[in-house]
Amino acid sequence: MTTTPDFLVIAIDGGAASGKSTTARKLAEELDLMHVDTGSYYRSLTAAILEKGINPDDSRLESFLDSASLSTRIGNRSGTLLLEGVSFPQEVLRSEKVNANVSSFAALPMVRKKLFDYQRNQVLVAQENGFSGLVMEGRDIGSVIFPDARVRVFLHADPAVRSSRRAAQGENDAIEARDKTDSTRATAPLTCPDGATSIDTGSSTVEEVVELISQLVQSRQTP
Ligand code: C5P
Repeated sequence: MTTTPDFLVIAIDGGAASGKSTTARKLAEELDLMHVDTGSYYRSLTAAILEKGINPDDSRLESFLDSASLSTRIGNRSGTLLLEGVSFPQEVLRSEKVNANVSSFAALPMVRKKLFDYQRNQVLVAQENGFSGLVMEGRDIGSVIFPDARVRVFLHADPAVRSSRRAAQGENDAIEARDKTDSTRATAPLTCPDGATSIDTGSSTVEEVVELISQLVQSRQTP
């Protein structure tokens, strides 16, 4: 992977319904960057694994991951993970079944390993598609995937605010249970990495959060 010093990476981490996607999409639009939602990558792998009837402790998981071929399609400046050239529809990725299982698969080192290089390679994909940078959102972007990102932020909000966001989206999602699994796993746990800027999205509008992150980007421009 080749990164030039002027290629901008913005890492956005946070728990479920912390406002990552809304913020990341708007930021990418305003700064003309590629947007990558790594949660959707874990959701896609989970949907494919569930479709094959494989459990987290199933011996077939390793061979499935070894043989799965991953590629990217860009639409509306967002990258979509393709498995064997095919993507899952949003209603599958955001289904109750995927919501209930994604954190168990995401806790497995072999699943994270499968996505590690792929996520880092999105820099190349962005460059090949003419973007000068990317906004990547997830749980371990600022801690593990791009610890040297120019800007790293950690979004959080009161649990009641987050639950009401999910309810408004009409999704059945046990967000506190997912956060617990995500933040207590041994590999790449959900955490606010040292040096990241922590932002409460419950007490600010999306515009204010985007403005704050844009200011961080400006203050860290390369000369
Ligand atoms: O962001 P979203 O809620 O769609 O993520 C779904 C799940 O994917 C998370 O609960 C977490 O288990 C996993 N995930 C992760 N690391 C990332 C992004 C998502 O473990 N970088």
